[in-house]
Amino acid sequence: MKQPVRIAVTGAAGNISYSLLFKLAAGELLGPDQPVILQLLEIPQAMNKLTGVAKELQDCAFPLVHGISLHDHPMDAFRHVNYALLVGSRPRTKGMERADLLESNAKIFSEQGRALNAVASHDIKALVVGNPANTNCLILARNAPDIHPSQFSSMIRLDHNRSKGILGGKLGINPADLEGVCVWGNHSPTMYPDLHHAYVLEDDEPIIKHLDQNWYHQEFTPKIQKRGAEIIEWRGLSSAASAAQAAIDHMHDWVLGSDGSIVSMGVISDGSYGIAKGIYYGFPVICEFGRYQIVRNLSINDYGLSMMKNTEKELLDERQAVAHLLPEETEALMDGVSFEEHRDPIYYRADQIC
Ligand code: NAD
Ligand code: LMR
Repeated sequence: MKQPVRIAVTGAAGNISYSLLFKLAAGELLGPDQPVILQLLEIPQAMNKLTGVAKELQDCAFPLVHGISLHDHPMDAFRHVNYALLVGSRPRTKGMERADLLESNAKIFSEQGRALNAVASHDIKALVVGNPANTNCLILARNAPDIHPSQFSSMIRLDHNRSKGILGGKLGINPADLEGVCVWGNHSPTMYPDLHHAYVLEDDEPIIKHLDQNWYHQEFTPKIQKRGAEIIEWRGLSSAASAAQAAIDHMHDWVLGSDGSIVSMGVISDGSYGIAKGIYYGFPVICEFGRYQIVRNLSINDYGLSMMKNTEKELLDERQAVAHLLPEETEALMDGVSFEEHRDPIYYRADQIC
């Protein structure tokens, strides 16, 4: 049996986590032979609800769960963690755009960045799910100057999965047989779902050659861009189970590899495809040996380029709006919360959850 790894989940009493935690505990992220210790973070007002969720986890008797701890402060929840799934934040409700969440959620991620920097394992892999995910990820990473920016990522996998699901439905093809789909840019209505490199397994023909361009541009693209709002409209709540599945897929592929397939991840831009360096931008990547690599040789037409630039501009505007939360490296180090400054943790042992 392998040594257990520590996984922090924030917003652990929320809707996404109610699906995510049970998948994690069942081994869907790291495989059936990897024990886990779950370090769950919530706000103080949600600790009772979180205790209920922890009791349910215990009632599943998952063999891979070697410990569960509940916390109301990131300095406790992030101690020594190898993985972090940062879900906790306010979701949007009917009529709100994701940008409306920028200010309210940004502060959460600057505090959590400092805490990760101070107490998490420095080879951590962290995924930001809470919206606006790309810019929250930027805030998180900039507040954790001792951790390499490539160890942070934001979730655009839900849009990737949505694209495959909806395209597969249109073509009557199992989504698992679709390769080369990718989504660029911001997890927002400016995202660019790109089908130009998509093909069906065991078929060399690019799908785009046979696709009705009107359907692609006028129906498919806006549907993917606004799917989150559509789910809110129908469900009255933001997507939860599909978001949890996407978070598992994202982390699974990052850690264990994407088997040569292109997947979409929000990662720090290194200037590939002319995208401004330093923002977290959805790119097509291939994962291998615990690392992602941006796929660099895709040909982009004028339509694609203008879509990519449009979503890049939105991310640059978001970065500008949170500039006050983006310390330079030295300031971040000075501002860092230290172990010593922090008060006693609230810590529930497994036997106290019963
Ligand atoms: P939810 O309201 O059901 O749960 C969020 C939880 O986070 C709540 O329990 C809340 O108490 C907790 N929380 C708030 N502030 C916290 C903090 N500082 N520390 C720890 N926990 C905190 O919301 P949800 O439906 O689970 O969605 C969570 C986030 O994920 C939202 O921002 C939503 O917009 C986003 N989301 C992103 C994607 C994506 O593809 N990137 C998809 C779906 C939802
Ligand atoms: C989604 O895409 O479903 C989430 O980001 C929720 C939202 O606010 O759109």
